[in-house]
Amino acid sequence: MKNVVLIGFMGTGKTSSGRMLAQKLGCAFIDLDQKIERDNGRRIPEIFASEGEAAFRALEHQAVLEVAGRRNAVVSTGGGTVKDPANMAALRQSGVIVCLRASVETILERTQKKGDRPVLDKADAGDRRAAIESLLKARASLYDDADFVVDTSNLSPMQVVEKIMRYLRSRGVIHA
Ligand code: S3P
Repeated sequence: MKNVVLIGFMGTGKTSSGRMLAQKLGCAFIDLDQKIERDNGRRIPEIFASEGEAAFRALEHQAVLEVAGRRNAVVSTGGGTVKDPANMAALRQSGVIVCLRASVETILERTQKKGDRPVLDKADAGDRRAAIESLLKARASLYDDADFVVDTSNLSPMQVVEKIMRYLRSRGVIHA
């Protein structure tokens, strides 16, 4: 099977839906953020704090190249993975790109906790909603460039998975 690559903003459900999708498909699940943390022995906020975003993006690119070199996996990317065109070229060549979307309200609820998402924490000058809106706007065209889009705002991870599986069947990526 080609890889199934989930892209989308923070809080759109890439990790929870991705894990469930891989279970359903009986294939490997790779969460890019978790891979970066495991490979480097540090949490992402620590990497941002000690080396900065550019260093994190370099580690992220390395991780992308590794996962794009294999097949038969569901890959959940980080919200900013789409910013590097070289990441998307490699991931696109390895499989199908599915974008998860959610309303600002939903993202706000799902990303309330500070300390886990350095990009959002940095952009948040006391107004989390404004930070989300402006980052979403800046990245909109990058997320739109997907083979299939699912709005997860009012869906459970299982419902998201069902929609993605229907799409994968229609495209002949899976046959079950
Ligand atoms: C980021 C999103 C995070 C993580 C890092 C940067 C971003 O992933 O890769 O904190 O730039 O949007 P999630 O989308 O899984 O939170």
